[in-house]
Amino acid sequence: MSDVTRTAPWQQLDRHRSELEAVDLRGLFAADPGRAQRLSVTAGDWYIDYSKHRITDTTVGLLLDLARAAGVESHRDAMLAGEHINTTEDRAVLHTALRLPRSATLPADGANVVPEVHTVLDAMAGFAEKVRSGTWRGATGQTITTVINIGIGGSDLGPAMVARALRHYADGPDARFVANIDPADLTAQLSGLDPARTLFVVASKTFTTIETLTNATAARRWLVAALGEDAVAAHFVAVSTNATKVAEFGIDPANMFGFWDWVGGRYSVGSAIGLSVMCAIGPARFAEFLAGMHTVDEHFATAPLEANAPVLLGLLGVWYASVLGAQTRAVLPYSQDLARLPAYLQQLTMESNGKSVRRDGSPVDHDTGEIFWGEPGTNGQHAFFQLLHQGTRLIPADFVGFATALEDLPTRDGTGSMQQVLLANMLAQAKVLAFGKTAAEVAADGTDPALVAHKVMPGNRPSTTLLAPALTPSTLGQLIALYEHQVFVQGVIWGIDSFDQWGVELGKTQALQLAPALTDEADPDTGDSSTDTLVRTIRRWRRK
Ligand code: F6P
Repeated sequence: MSDVTRTAPWQQLDRHRSELEAVDLRGLFAADPGRAQRLSVTAGDWYIDYSKHRITDTTVGLLLDLARAAGVESHRDAMLAGEHINTTEDRAVLHTALRLPRSATLPADGANVVPEVHTVLDAMAGFAEKVRSGTWRGATGQTITTVINIGIGGSDLGPAMVARALRHYADGPDARFVANIDPADLTAQLSGLDPARTLFVVASKTFTTIETLTNATAARRWLVAALGEDAVAAHFVAVSTNATKVAEFGIDPANMFGFWDWVGGRYSVGSAIGLSVMCAIGPARFAEFLAGMHTVDEHFATAPLEANAPVLLGLLGVWYASVLGAQTRAVLPYSQDLARLPAYLQQLTMESNGKSVRRDGSPVDHDTGEIFWGEPGTNGQHAFFQLLHQGTRLIPADFVGFATALEDLPTRDGTGSMQQVLLANMLAQAKVLAFGKTAAEVAADGTDPALVAHKVMPGNRPSTTLLAPALTPSTLGQLIALYEHQVFVQGVIWGIDSFDQWGVELGKTQALQLAPALTDEADPDTGDSSTDTLVRTIRRWRRK
């Protein structure tokens, strides 16, 4: 397995880092009026400005050399062709097949997967239309007004983020989401609901996840208590790859929507895992969402590396995480509807690339796995932006915004619109981060000399601005695919398997082992004094 740090571009980038210490974004922009035009790229409807980064044309050239040296194109082609690039699980990685048009062909493991994908999409559409039109009735003959998706991780974050983002397009039943085994999650979502008009979608790729099966069992008890055992068939459907377990749980496999082991959980929002979203917005809008993803898949597959948005953005992430030593990336949607985007992207990037060994098991000796975090603007400006502007850390940021609002409102004096102010804030923040304000400029404002140092804005703080005309099913699908492929590019460069997640298993096993200790009578012997003491404390407080 090749070690990327031994490639010439990696070593050149490492040396190039010190050359960049002599320049800053102010100087780079002042010296180069064509910078913004050159350092920008479009993908589908997205215009992406990456000119406010600590890079020069040399940096971009070296990063592209790195992509070539790591074999980004051949790995991409192998993924898109259905090769088993998830080597530790010996699986193909074909979430892109979920958004292929009906007419496409994609042989994986010897069979064309596209017909199966569309058979499931058709079944989902048939079911969603029945629920939406009122043809699907609950056990008492009433129509469904609320669909609750019970799932966790990729079986929750994708549909929950998308349902919230596309609320403007929702004209079907209310979509709600329950994930946590904390009983507060289910009870809060069930509160005020009429069991006779509630449908549960139990979403789990494996159908073995304890949180999901426990919540589904509790939801089933809630329903049966109100409507009786016979009501289950009309109020529970499943989304899974595991028909046997679905049947064991008591859901008729006829009411199961399948997907395949070549769809990773965090890449599954375009699969049947999106059923709750389809019920809310309808099959036609869901098809637009998938088509948006496909647009960026095509861009990723065909655009030359120097004009390939996911490649460029993925490389920038490598530049900051592995070369410049940035610890995190802030994701700042200037869109309240995208409030769950940072959480969704956290699973996407951190479960995919949070690895410290390469595909052959050898340890990496550089940082991998970007840490994403963030909140919508402008809220974040009144919370953590102080640290972004004047703190000691290097935190590249992604600003994500839309030129138009779906429902705009006038400003206080009626001369402008709230979306206009929102956008002005987004632009201002990126501008201030990049260009700051010097001591001379602060002093020239007549600032008390004692305060000048406090008011200096250092600038030279990097950001990408991702801009689309409006938040639509299509532009949202495009945005998701943009990030999915960035994560892929980074995984190839770091030489890791982005599609397994062994690191989450041990905690699950130990939780199962520890659960009885919380109610046992014998003095706890969990293997360490910290856990023993915590168990004793919990027992004492639970007895009170
Ligand atoms: O624990 C991690 C994980 O396996 C994720 O990768 C996955 O998205 C989530 O759990 C839920 O898994 P499932 O869909 O099988 O219930």
